[in-house]
Amino acid sequence: MRVKMDDSDEDINPFTSLLINQDDKPNAFTTIQNEAPNQELLQNHFLRSIQSTVIIRQLPSEGLSFQLWPAATSLVSLLDSHRIDPSNSPLSTVLTTTNNPPRILELGSGTGIVGIVAAATLGSNVTITDLPHVVANLQFNAEANAGVVGSSGGVVTCAPLRWGHAADVERMGSEFDVILASDVVYHDHLYEPLLETLRLMLVGNKIVFVMAHMRRWKKESVFFKKAKKHFDVDVLHVDTPCNGSRVGVVVYRFVGKG
Ligand SMILES: C[S@@+](CC[C@H](N)C(=O)[O-])C[C@H]1O[C@@H](n2cnc3c(N)ncnc32)[C@H](O)[C@@H]1O
Repeated sequence: MRVKMDDSDEDINPFTSLLINQDDKPNAFTTIQNEAPNQELLQNHFLRSIQSTVIIRQLPSEGLSFQLWPAATSLVSLLDSHRIDPSNSPLSTVLTTTNNPPRILELGSGTGIVGIVAAATLGSNVTITDLPHVVANLQFNAEANAGVVGSSGGVVTCAPLRWGHAADVERMGSEFDVILASDVVYHDHLYEPLLETLRLMLVGNKIVFVMAHMRRWKKESVFFKKAKKHFDVDVLHVDTPCNGSRVGVVVYRFVGKG
């Protein structure tokens, strides 16, 4: 049975990136993939830096947590380029100041591709997390890529982590250098729980949060306004908009204040 918690996907089409105008009408502008529903999609992502392919299973009929979002693709490209030429990489600002390899946690991992690619390109120990009902697919993808990840000295572990649940954060501990996330700011009722988890993990710690974000709604500025009360937020990278869109994916760095 499909368990729906607070990741309701009624008004978001993951195949389409939406930017909302002043009048709040969405403009569809990017189609990533358009396959028949009820099918599992196995996608290959070739990583130039390690000359290897990562395989990711998507389950479109299961909902938005089981699909690849645009910001994840951006972060994957940045991680791949970082390994090829760190001196020319927007991620260097973060990755040259942490343990090497950095210990990484990913929030709202979805298919898990970002964490898996981070483990494969950085040789890191990465914990990929999401809502409990998403973890089985994370596990599937982690196991499918264990060989590629292992050859780089990386390891991927999967765990449930519900935003806003202090006990889930406690269970993870704080032995991380970097928290990664892509496309996790979308429904406004999730802003507070996500910020609460970030507060618990970042404030008073040296952990850095790196978030790739595709802007869809004007209301997302509320998330950033709230975030800036607790974190120093700056922009590491802005992707060139593609397929006629007005905005590209932006990669932010959050550091706890105080
Ligand atoms: C838009 S998807 C992005 C998935 C993936 N990061 C990507 O970019 O392809 C948002 C992800 O956040 C997860 N999520 C939503 N609400 C959550 C919550 N309360 N706690 C933990 N994860 C949540 C969803 O299950 C989903 O995987």
